[in-house]
Amino acid sequence: MILPIIAYGDPVLKKTGKEIDRDYPGLEKLIADMHDTMYDANGVGLAAPQVNESIRLFIIDATPYADEDKELDGFKKVFINPIILHEEGREWDFNEGCLSIPGIREDIRRKPKVTIEYYDKDFNLKEEVYEGMAARIIQHEYDHIEGVLFTDRINPLRLRLLNGKLKNIAKGNVDVDYKMKFPLK
Ligand code: NI
Repeated sequence: MILPIIAYGDPVLKKTGKEIDRDYPGLEKLIADMHDTMYDANGVGLAAPQVNESIRLFIIDATPYADEDKELDGFKKVFINPIILHEEGREWDFNEGCLSIPGIREDIRRKPKVTIEYYDKDFNLKEEVYEGMAARIIQHEYDHIEGVLFTDRINPLRLRLLNGKLKNIAKGNVDVDYKMKFPLK
């Protein structure tokens, strides 16, 4: 089932997600619905707060980009209660977008390598290292469960220039071809 994606400006996107356990009500259906929602919007990652669930869960399927980046081949995962243990390397810029902020892309600076601990969909504890685009997608989705958006990572001057566009997104004055819920509409 495709869920509406929560747009910029909704307080749920600014909250820190809560940890869950395997008995979290409707977890399996939520994960399935998040996949339907992400694929419908042509996204490669989606975090639970973006579908109005303030919990520590995000999904990634970057396999559509495997042709361009071999590292992304087979990178389809569910991350539950993740903790980024460390990030390393020299920061690099990448032009990021976000399904909650349609029509805006900004260069965001992040470290290229992450070590992450998380539970998979069967609640097996994992610790893995990711680099490059895989790390980048993880960092973006991880930010969501910490209540952080990429707009929180751009400089204040640049943010001020985007303010009008962001307000329009919150009001629903934006062209988007997937289902969304706008906080000021
Ligand atoms: Ni996002």
